[in-house]
Amino acid sequence: MTIDPILNPFANLDPADIVSLRRVFDRHSFTEKSVGDVLPACLNGNPTSNGAAPIVLRALREENPLNLLIRLFLVNASIPEGPLREVFGDRLFSGLVAGGLLGPTPGGFACPLIVNPLRGFYIIHDTISARVADFSRHLVMGVGTSSLTPANATPRRHYRRALDVGCGGGFQAFHLATHCDKVVALDINPRALNLGRAAAILNRADNIDFRLSDFYSAVEGETFDLIVSNPPFVISPESEFHYRDGGLGADRVTETVIRNAPDHLAEGGLAVIICEWASLHGGDPHGRLKEWLSGSNCDVWVSTSKEDDLVSYAMSWLRSYRAHLSPEEFRQTFDRWMDYYESLNMEGIQTGLVVMRKRTGNNWLFIDEAPSVIRGRWGESLLQLIDIHTLLHTATVDELLDQRFKLASAARMRHIYEQVGNRWASSEADIFLVEPLPYSGRVDQYTAGLCARCDGTVPLRQLVAGMGEAVGVTFPEIVEAAMPILRGLMQRGYLIPVSLLPPDPEAPQA
Ligand SMILES: C[S@@+](CC[C@H](N)C(=O)[O-])C[C@H]1O[C@@H](n2cnc3c(N)ncnc32)[C@H](O)[C@@H]1O
Repeated sequence: MTIDPILNPFANLDPADIVSLRRVFDRHSFTEKSVGDVLPACLNGNPTSNGAAPIVLRALREENPLNLLIRLFLVNASIPEGPLREVFGDRLFSGLVAGGLLGPTPGGFACPLIVNPLRGFYIIHDTISARVADFSRHLVMGVGTSSLTPANATPRRHYRRALDVGCGGGFQAFHLATHCDKVVALDINPRALNLGRAAAILNRADNIDFRLSDFYSAVEGETFDLIVSNPPFVISPESEFHYRDGGLGADRVTETVIRNAPDHLAEGGLAVIICEWASLHGGDPHGRLKEWLSGSNCDVWVSTSKEDDLVSYAMSWLRSYRAHLSPEEFRQTFDRWMDYYESLNMEGIQTGLVVMRKRTGNNWLFIDEAPSVIRGRWGESLLQLIDIHTLLHTATVDELLDQRFKLASAARMRHIYEQVGNRWASSEADIFLVEPLPYSGRVDQYTAGLCARCDGTVPLRQLVAGMGEAVGVTFPEIVEAAMPILRGLMQRGYLIPVSLLPPDPEAPQA
């Protein structure tokens, strides 16, 4: 059998050499932190971004092993043989050359791929310049925002079986391998699977099963406790790259991943999927997503970004991928993209993080615009929000009023005062969360007061009754007026039912 070096660039690389390479990385502290410490600040810790190479090469001219590893593995610099032998040793150097991780250049040797230390893992992926290489369809992408969003949102609890759909170089799978017993990582691109397999050795992750698969085809009949996916969701007339446009047309990649996820979720299992869908003229911007989710047997929480207008969307993709075209070719390509959107009756493009939790029964769907910047990793907050939504969906108003609530510790308030006569009188307040989902909103002074009193000791009924007295209305009237506002605060995690809070480690033991 002949081996295609595009699909399997590491066929001749001895796994023992990958193990030795990791030792070299450890010895010289080739880590995200050390790399970040020596990079010029203007690169924001990202040496692999477009145009970064000359900056990295100039800044890291001093000869030392860490600089050599950065130049070699992050910006594909050519390095003379002598220093390479010094850092790797003769045996490993020869192994890396034989295995294709070092290729000859006029001045020495260079690595044809990126080996990127990120989040405690090494991700092996293609360079940006490979977008125009003859194997570009099989190009394996690096780690971008669409990779980080699901990675940051995924709860890092212990799960038995996890699935990564469209694993690429394995960024999601390596995260999953740290907290799940077994991970199945699927991709249609054999090159991605082979880069992932090599990186798994570097990452000492031995619980990932990389499988060639057309979406879920290789896991037929299997269920998982956790699914994560960053599929090739870009909506365009192209089918150029496995990693970007998937080749199904319109938003059918998203449809396929979303529609089929429930069949592969165990009861209670969670799917975290970043994706895009078309919003059509004259319809609900989320109409298509809702249709795919109907009857899914999942509760669904969706956090969307602002809708992209088609011109800006097409332009941003074309500027990154078609900058080399002549102005006339560029215009024609742009026209082709816009004609395509017109033919699909599209008005805009929605981007969202779709989180599905399987719960056979009467399900809820909540679609909300995401706060602009979500900081850090927020998987636990996400689970808490889903639990709150389920409670709001299943409990009666009386049952909710019997619950005790606590104001989130990340909640803050800014009061607004109005001039009344010759003094300031408090009117409304801006309420916001400082982390991890920094929602913000405005509440009236009575709701602001109620929130302050949510310390987890008093049932909501009592607080709402007090609010009614302050406003001068009956209890049923205040319940009717206040509950929609309070529900909104609960849905975004300002007010958390004590029953859903993690146990307080400081609390005295019974
Ligand atoms: C956007 S990349 C995501 C890579 C990685 N999971 C991450 O989050 O950084 C999408 C991946 O889906 C893969 N893919 C495209 N079409 C597929 C299909 N029909 N079945 C499975 N995977 C597919 C691509 O090869 C690519 O690796």
